[in-house]
Amino acid sequence: MKSKILVTGGAGYIGSHTAVALATAGYEPVLVDNFVNSSKSVLEGLKQILQAEPTFYEADCTDKQQMEAIFKKEGNIRGVIHFAAYKAVGESVAEPIKYYQNNLGSLLVLLELMEQYGVAELVFSSSCTVYGQPDELPVTEQSPTKPANSPYGRTKQMCEDILRDAVASGRKLKTVALRYFNPVGAHPSGLIGELPNGVPNNLIPFVTQTAAGLREKITVFGDDYNTSDGTCIRDYIHVLDLADAHIKTFEYLRDRSENSFYDVVNVGTGQGNSVLEVIQTFEEVSGKPLNYQLGPRRPGDVEQVWADVAKANNVLNWKTQHSLKDALKDAWRWQQNLVKTE
Ligand code: UD1
Repeated sequence: MKSKILVTGGAGYIGSHTAVALATAGYEPVLVDNFVNSSKSVLEGLKQILQAEPTFYEADCTDKQQMEAIFKKEGNIRGVIHFAAYKAVGESVAEPIKYYQNNLGSLLVLLELMEQYGVAELVFSSSCTVYGQPDELPVTEQSPTKPANSPYGRTKQMCEDILRDAVASGRKLKTVALRYFNPVGAHPSGLIGELPNGVPNNLIPFVTQTAAGLREKITVFGDDYNTSDGTCIRDYIHVLDLADAHIKTFEYLRDRSENSFYDVVNVGTGQGNSVLEVIQTFEEVSGKPLNYQLGPRRPGDVEQVWADVAKANNVLNWKTQHSLKDALKDAWRWQQNLVKTE
């Protein structure tokens, strides 16, 4: 029988790609989403890719009753991947309580139910945001975390603390917080990808929407940083590689003999690219000149961050398979399909 993995935020960007990776690796993903920041159309895309209807529940992860009904109905859940969370930095500053309620509340509900139903394996979606602006690059898991510069970032740090404390208490819980760098790209089928509501906050959807003519131009946030071309540097990782890291994390957890185990692992490419490099690469792969302008810095942005991925390579036995070019090609294919179907 296939091992069931509960995937919260399963209709989301990373969740949907991880659902495909899980199914391909022989697991049975059980998806949960409340569509607060995702769309039902994702399920259609998944069905086409998987050639089967994914197991799906519409539920709010902070609602213990709704979530318990899923644990009961499914019976033998092997592990959980907790993606479901709010993630807009600016919004979190304006509505902090909403962020604490949702991002902490959902984790607490899951931890309670996992204990109740004897589920021990959990992969948690954390973020490189916990490092702030690192003093040294590349950033390793030993690099100190910095005071978060938004309630969103603080929820990620607090969730990591909750997991660390839960494991320290000796309860039966094996968990890894994956610190994602910047996920980009889409499934090569063009059937699923990033689907932001309204005006995108993130760079790549803004780039592809501008190229598709949905936005007039894109502003590069700051060209006076202390970097080679003055624009910010990030570690852009293909969402397919990121999805694959979750599969490898379950294998890693399974190999651990301890009953209580906590670890953190960076998931990036190990390479930094500037905003202008991303734009240039996009122009190259799409063959489209992008209408961009240089503008002021965005408050709260860190100057540069990229990952040391030695730990992911060694302990997860994982490495990236896709380049930034692949990611931008896939993101562009996805955007073009979206425009066609609208
Ligand atoms: C942001 C969050 C990060 C979070 C992630 C999830 C901050 C400081 N970080 O990452 O914690 O996990 O979103 O969504 O907010 N850019 C432009 N023009 C644009 C959009 C972006 O120049 O229109 C630049 C940004 O200044 C940045 C880079 O592109 O240098 C990437 O931005 P973005 O995609 O928003 O990701 P982060 O800010 O790195």
